[in-house]
Amino acid sequence: MKSIAIDGPAGAGKSTIARKVAEKLSFIYVDTGAMYRSMALYFLRNGISSEEEEKIAAACPDIDVSISYQNGEQQVILNGENVNGLIRTEEVSMMTSNTSKYPVVREKLLSLQRGLAEKENVIMDGRDIGTCVLPGADVKIYLTASAQERARRRYKEQTERGLICDMKEIERDIIARDEQDMNREVAPLRQAEDAVLVDSSDMNIDQVVDEIIRIYQEKT
Ligand code: C5P
Repeated sequence: MKSIAIDGPAGAGKSTIARKVAEKLSFIYVDTGAMYRSMALYFLRNGISSEEEEKIAAACPDIDVSISYQNGEQQVILNGENVNGLIRTEEVSMMTSNTSKYPVVREKLLSLQRGLAEKENVIMDGRDIGTCVLPGADVKIYLTASAQERARRRYKEQTERGLICDMKEIERDIIARDEQDMNREVAPLRQAEDAVLVDSSDMNIDQVVDEIIRIYQEKT
């Protein structure tokens, strides 16, 4: 099986890019952030705060996360419920970063992620795909952009979804999230040694997609 790992900070455009690359190469796109988001949603719904590591650990066995595809779009199923439409709020984003640092949460999703890559050609995005989930990936990309540009894109995405938001607040949130994701003890966000750095600040979507496909063709 072939695999492409895309890691990088919040709002770098990983999912948009990965979805398009998957389409062009006929790979499956796996969004691992959505899996962490669904677990965070479970904790929020059950009144568990992100500091309560013991309660989080105790809740984990009750959580079942799986994915399916509808018209090529990944759907995250949390204990039998499709929660795709509920996991993109800023509240869930922050809760996700606050809880994905716990080993018990990460262990829960690791085998699901690796299992998918064993069965299908995948392009998988997240924070630790190249460094931890798929260390043997055929291609590893570290996709980034300036914090300002990432905030601008996230703002556009959220307002297009009809959500009211504040650009400065989004920028603060993504900086806080990156800081936390980069400095946690388990599987921190960092560029794998063999990853190719792609800075998309001054690139449009198609340019980034073409660049990744070029890197893939060159390496395989
Ligand atoms: O990619 P997305 O913004 O949906 O990820 C939400 C959060 O999930 C990240 O801020 C990070 O804390 C966590 N995450 C992670 N490992 C991954 C993917 C996401 O820790 N592979």
